[in-house]
Amino acid sequence: RLKLAVVGGGSTYTPELIDGFARLRDVLPLEELVLIDPAADRLELVGGLARRIFAKQGHPGRISWTGDLDAGVDGADAVLLQLRIGGQTARNQDETWPLECGCVGQETTGAGGLAKALRTVPVVLDIAERVRRRNPGAWIVDFTNPVGIVTRALLTHGHKAVGLCNVAIGFQRKFAALLGVSPGRVELEHVGLNHLTWERAVRVAGEDVLPRLLAEHGDALADDLRMPRPLLDRLGVVPSYYLRYYYQHDAVVRELRSKPSRAAEVAAIEQQLLGMYGDPALDEKPELLSRRGGAFYSEAAVALTSSLLRHTGDTQVVNALNRGTLPFLPDDAVIEVPATVDSTGATPLPVRPLEPLYAGLVANVTAYEHLALEAALWGRDGRKADRAGARNAVFSALLAHPLIGQNDYADRLTDALIAHNREHLTWA
Ligand code: G6P
Ligand code: MN
Repeated sequence: RLKLAVVGGGSTYTPELIDGFARLRDVLPLEELVLIDPAADRLELVGGLARRIFAKQGHPGRISWTGDLDAGVDGADAVLLQLRIGGQTARNQDETWPLECGCVGQETTGAGGLAKALRTVPVVLDIAERVRRRNPGAWIVDFTNPVGIVTRALLTHGHKAVGLCNVAIGFQRKFAALLGVSPGRVELEHVGLNHLTWERAVRVAGEDVLPRLLAEHGDALADDLRMPRPLLDRLGVVPSYYLRYYYQHDAVVRELRSKPSRAAEVAAIEQQLLGMYGDPALDEKPELLSRRGGAFYSEAAVALTSSLLRHTGDTQVVNALNRGTLPFLPDDAVIEVPATVDSTGATPLPVRPLEPLYAGLVANVTAYEHLALEAALWGRDGRKADRAGARNAVFSALLAHPLIGQNDYADRLTDALIAHNREHLTWA
């Protein structure tokens, strides 16, 4: 019996996942799905719609929901993590207070991303412990951001985990559409860290078509990424959307200061979505959901879970331990690259030497992620939970971040981070 549990199952994103499970049931023949969430009201709405989507598409799988994590994960073959500690309210803060120092306000990049890591890592590790106690064989598939740091926490604590993001599959679909080929034929040479990646080659039947893509569709790609076309031409690679926060940092800060936060936008979309989910006539994922950033994440999740559970050994872009793949990074860094996925987990494929232009940033952000994880683990694993030590750990992570880096900013952002996240930090 193939059973899956989704922690954070009350998310408005869940219908995307359900739609993927329904359409791709040959790849992953689910028999039981449990949605787990502390928010009972949302679970009710999302769970009801999930059942209607399965029914409409003739999926025989059983869907249930619960607020009880231990009961929910019992007997699950895989547990998907898609939770958001503090919800859009906490995200709104992450996106706002860093702007006061002229630094980017973003949920996964910069100081906001550190705040999210500090709130999230301890909770995810507790969940993983409970999953392991009930269910030592279960795989954990982590979508929970910041995926790089959360996956590193899971893997360095010995959990059976793989981190997943939709950026790579998004590019694969985009390029396939531009080339007029089916997505399965497009292979990406995707390299970097989660939300810090570049597409260095795009292969169709072994041929690198990236130069052609840039020549013929450079304007459309630049438009999509909101980056200047000449930058793409100069690099000769396609950076992920998240590189905007680096390559155009100050311009992005000006833009973010002039409009409502993405969290506020998402909160409004979510209110509308939840209203729709309550309609017993709705039996498919609504079009409105495409205004969220999660396109194709269900497909990526189905593919990854299937490969882990069915030992396929195919190649997918995931977050996994470096272990020498990028020789200039520590073995326990988590990188986002194509990897072989089977029932032993994800093993990165060899990567061509990385050019200094990208290697420098990757090394720098890896050091930040190491220090961010140290800060997030403050007071755990036998470390003592003193406030001064914890503050120093937060400060170090911020000082190490390439978008912060200055003493004065790191100091002010440390105070702001602590002030806005006191209720989530045991030591604060
Ligand atoms: C992309 C990223 C995710 C992120 C999402 C945000 O999908 O890969 O990691 O969570 O965008 O989308 P949202 O609609 O919440 O702004
Ligand atoms: Mn992502």
